[in-house]
Amino acid sequence: MVQGKSARRSQIKINIAIDGYSSCGKGTLAKALAKQLDYIFIDSGAMYRAVTLHMLQLGVDVLNETDVTDALQSLKLSCLINKQKQTEIVLNGKEVESEIRGLMVASKVSEVAKILAVRKKLVAIQQEIGKNKGVVMDGRDIGTVVFPQAEVKIFMTANSAVRANRRFKELIANGDSVSLETVRKNIDQRDSIDTSREHSPLSLSSDYCILDNSDLSKAKQLEIALEWVNDALNATNS
Ligand code: DC
Repeated sequence: MVQGKSARRSQIKINIAIDGYSSCGKGTLAKALAKQLDYIFIDSGAMYRAVTLHMLQLGVDVLNETDVTDALQSLKLSCLINKQKQTEIVLNGKEVESEIRGLMVASKVSEVAKILAVRKKLVAIQQEIGKNKGVVMDGRDIGTVVFPQAEVKIFMTANSAVRANRRFKELIANGDSVSLETVRKNIDQRDSIDTSREHSPLSLSSDYCILDNSDLSKAKQLEIALEWVNDALNATNS
C-alpha cells in the first residue's frame, strides 16, 4: 500500500467523483478513500433521499413536478461534516440518516431525482462543498455535472445479483423486513430511471476509470482507486 501513503502525503488536493449504479459499493469505496487521503466524504444520494423524505412527510405526490418544486421552498437541508469528515444530513433541524435508508424512501427517490428544480438545488450545495477540493463524492452525475473537472472519475459497476444481495443485507440490518426479490426489483427500477431520465442521467464517458467490483475485495478496490489517485496527483504536480 505504498501508493496510498504517497497519496496521503500530497499537499495538493483534488476532487474525486465516484458514479455508478445503485448498491455498487460506491459509498464504501468513497468513505475508505476519504479516510486514507484525509478528504471529506459526501454521499450525494443521501441528499436526494432527504428531499424525498421531506416530500413524503408533507404528503406531496412525488410524480407531480409542480408540487415537488413548490415544496422545495420549505426544505431546510444542511450537510454537516462531522469529526470523521463524513456528511450528516440534517432535514428541517433533525438528523435523518436512518430514516432515509428505508425502502419507502428508496422506492420514491428516483422519481424525485428526475426533477430539475431538485437537481439544481442539490448540485449548487454539492459544488459549494467541493469548491476548495479535497472531496470524495459519490452519486450518479458527479463526474458529469457536479465536478466535470474532477481529477479522478470512477465509474463503479457490479453484477445485479451481487448488488441485490448487498442491499438486502443492509436493509435487514437496518430493521426492514423485505424480500430479496423486492430489493432486486427496486434496484432494477432505480437503475432504469437513473439512466434514462432527461436531466443528468447516469452515463459513462471516456474520462472515467471503470471499476467492476463483483469479485473484488474492499481492500483491492481501495488499492486500485489509490493508484488512479496517485496518477492524478502526479499529473497535477508535474
Ligand atoms: O446513491 P443512492 O442509491 O443513495 O441514491 C438515491 C437515488 O438518488 C438514486 O436512485 C439516484 C439519485 N441520485 C441522483 O440522481 N444523483 C446523485 N448525484 C445521487 C443520487
